[in-house]
Amino acid sequence: MADNAPVTRPANPRFSSGPCAKIPTFELSKLSDAALGRSHRAKIGKEKLKAAIEETRALLGIPAEYRIGIVPASDTGAVEMAMWSLLGARPATMVAWESFGAGWVTDVVKQLKIEAEVRTAEYGEIVDMAALDYDTDVVFTWNGTTSGVRVPSGDVIPADRGGLTICDATSAAFAQDLPWDKLDVTTFSWQKVLGGEAAHGMLILGPRAVERLESYTPAWPLPKIFRLTKGGKLIEGIFEGATINTPSMLAVEDYLVALDWARSVGGLSGLMARADANAKAIWDFCERRDWIDNLATDPATRSNTSVCLKFTDPRIADPAAFAKSVQKRLEAEGVALDVGAYRDAPAGLRIWCGGTVETSDIEAMLPWLDWAFHAEIDAQAAAA
Ligand SMILES: Cc1ncc(COP(=O)(O)O)c(C=O)c1O
Repeated sequence: MADNAPVTRPANPRFSSGPCAKIPTFELSKLSDAALGRSHRAKIGKEKLKAAIEETRALLGIPAEYRIGIVPASDTGAVEMAMWSLLGARPATMVAWESFGAGWVTDVVKQLKIEAEVRTAEYGEIVDMAALDYDTDVVFTWNGTTSGVRVPSGDVIPADRGGLTICDATSAAFAQDLPWDKLDVTTFSWQKVLGGEAAHGMLILGPRAVERLESYTPAWPLPKIFRLTKGGKLIEGIFEGATINTPSMLAVEDYLVALDWARSVGGLSGLMARADANAKAIWDFCERRDWIDNLATDPATRSNTSVCLKFTDPRIADPAAFAKSVQKRLEAEGVALDVGAYRDAPAGLRIWCGGTVETSDIEAMLPWLDWAFHAEIDAQAAAA
């Protein structure tokens, strides 16, 4: 036991930003109904895939006319599929304020070589979403997982836009309100807010995206794994559970179990309230201390899932080494796992606050953050 250490430890120290903590009631035995060793095209497999789609729709309030597909390769697979299938019909606007958004910019500008206006902001800041040209196709990330900055609302996206909005919402879905009428394409992975497995991505297409798919063929070839149309028509089966290739039925079962738990805590509003309470516990903690702050500069853009923090104490000589040491102390005590800032992000900590995390665990972890910070300051002074 470390000197002056708090007495209470979090029951679950898993605060990773992905794969995220599994539902609090998780046990492997809950997956015993999985349709294992059976074809995913058999009745039981198809029913489970269809249930995953329709229960997602019900929980997230996705309009009936929107298509929801289970696609390969997690959120990245879903975003890539959308960009490679839809972009190129008109100029694009690429928006990024952290690492993953920047990755989509690279794809569009360097790989697809599409004429694009690129708008970026520094970590902690956000691009002015009201200043974009929505007659171009706009690709953006709703919640920047590596900067802890999110889009506060979709109000600035015009209803009568000419282009498509393509939104990577992987660390927002199930924790933040998504305005479906403003989002033509939305993607997420099971591994994030619901603490599922990473194998598959969800691709949600509004009517305008479907219209684009059926009226436009990209100039480049598309591998089978990306193909959403056949003979100029949408392959409807993909959006009814007839996946392009074989899915993991274990991961599907796990997702169904997570959706079931999500309903038990009050559905979307219950999940949002849980994430809000978790994030608030950290924000309140920061407010009462002069050595730690949110990376997000505008409180309206602070994420309630990926809460990113920076150390602001002037005594800190090497911010990256300091943050790393604090993280290591927390990890060594088994009180906070995987809370280091993302490798491309500014030095600091990132604590996942999505709905599968219990507020009591955040509250039990925070005194350890106090402890680790002071231990590290003392160690730094002793070494000087
Ligand atoms: C905003 C964002 N986009 C994309 C990804 C990649 O997700 P996956 O590894 O599930 O494909 C992540 C993962 O953390 C993310 O946070």
